[in-house]
Amino acid sequence: MVNGCFVLNEGAVAGWTDVDRETVLNLLNEILAIEIVCVLRYKRQESMAKEVHAGSLAAEFQKLAQDAQVHVDLVAERITQLEGEPNFTPVGHLMENHSEYIEGSSFREMIKGDWVAERMAIDFYREMIRVINGKDPTTHRMLENIVASEKKHTARLIHLMTSFEQRTITSSFHSNRSFIASNQR
Ligand SMILES: [Fe+2]
Repeated sequence: MVNGCFVLNEGAVAGWTDVDRETVLNLLNEILAIEIVCVLRYKRQESMAKEVHAGSLAAEFQKLAQDAQVHVDLVAERITQLEGEPNFTPVGHLMENHSEYIEGSSFREMIKGDWVAERMAIDFYREMIRVINGKDPTTHRMLENIVASEKKHTARLIHLMTSFEQRTITSSFHSNRSFIASNQR
């Protein structure tokens, strides 16, 4: 322990008394599940956008999936540093209270569902930061960085929702083919 903080960069868990290691590992595995579901959700949406040749939208979903994959890797690495095991088994049951897998029947619904899921994730990660309360600086810092990344995602999703509504108004004057083409701009 250094200055009242646990130094766990090398995977050491000695001195872990104030924050229960198992509790932190369980919470990290819940975050892992949330981020895995994010990857899956955005990859599905990327595929669907590509299917209708909505290239710019597909690129947005691709970037969101890549960011979520970065989070998956970070959290999994942190779990192993803490001598735990990252849970990559099917994760649906872990998601019930913190996120939602909303497939959506339109891109607008998908983006709205994405925004809801991102907000729920941020709330959960902030709660975990509160639980850690600075006693594990490495995990604390990692979560703060992930929250900052998720906040950028929510801002990006709001931008997408706004631009989608504008395009929907425009598209009402054109054929469905024109609407699909407008998504590529
Ligand atoms: Fe995200």
